[in-house]
Amino acid sequence: MKRALHIISSGRGERSYSRALGTAIIQKLIGKNEIGTVVERDLSKSPPPLLDEALVGEFYKLPETIDAKGKQLLTYADTIFNEMKEADIIVIGTPMYNFGISGLLKAWIDQLVRVGITYTYNADGTRTGCLLNKKVYLAVASGGRLSYWPEAYEFVESYIKAVFSAYTGITDVCTYRVEGTAEQHVTVNYEEIIQSI
Ligand SMILES: Cc1cc2nc3c(=O)[nH]c(=O)nc-3n(C[C@H](O)[C@H](O)[C@H](O)COP(=O)(O)O)c2cc1C
Repeated sequence: MKRALHIISSGRGERSYSRALGTAIIQKLIGKNEIGTVVERDLSKSPPPLLDEALVGEFYKLPETIDAKGKQLLTYADTIFNEMKEADIIVIGTPMYNFGISGLLKAWIDQLVRVGITYTYNADGTRTGCLLNKKVYLAVASGGRLSYWPEAYEFVESYIKAVFSAYTGITDVCTYRVEGTAEQHVTVNYEEIIQSI
């Protein structure tokens, strides 16, 4: 059976709609015997370190030139890369914040994407992703609704698809949404939202 990684990036704990939607996806996949193990990474409990000059410097070093201090700085990045490498299915929950993904999720992506690790350059300048044969389920919660805005204001799914396909090799991204969480008397039918799974 396949292995799943559940990324939670809302800090609202049990009250988070994106977390609940991600959990519903995980439960459905377990029910269908598609996944056997789940590793949960709650970014709000252990926030990813923000990039600074020292860490970015380590990102661009050849592996054989990284010393003990560099390895220490790379601990978080190496840990989350290994979690991604070992997962077949990745469920990512994110709130929509100011039209984009949560800051916690952006910080996680900035730690994940690395030349020579998640992608390599070919002789002709094109890139090859290193995280292959993986499927992402994206669980997005928003206070409003996509239909309120011009299509060009969709930055959550489009960003995740762009960054994963360009810099990791993951091209299979399936998006599910809880919309209108800021409306009065919200009741969410998660089963209905994920009925296509
Ligand atoms: C700082 C902030 C920015 C937000 N920006 C948007 C937005 O641009 N569009 C929108 O529809 N909802 C926006 N919301 C509402 C959240 O998307 C909504 O509360 C959602 O349910 C949060 O996800 P969660 O329940 O998983 O925490 C924002 C909320 C906060 C706190």
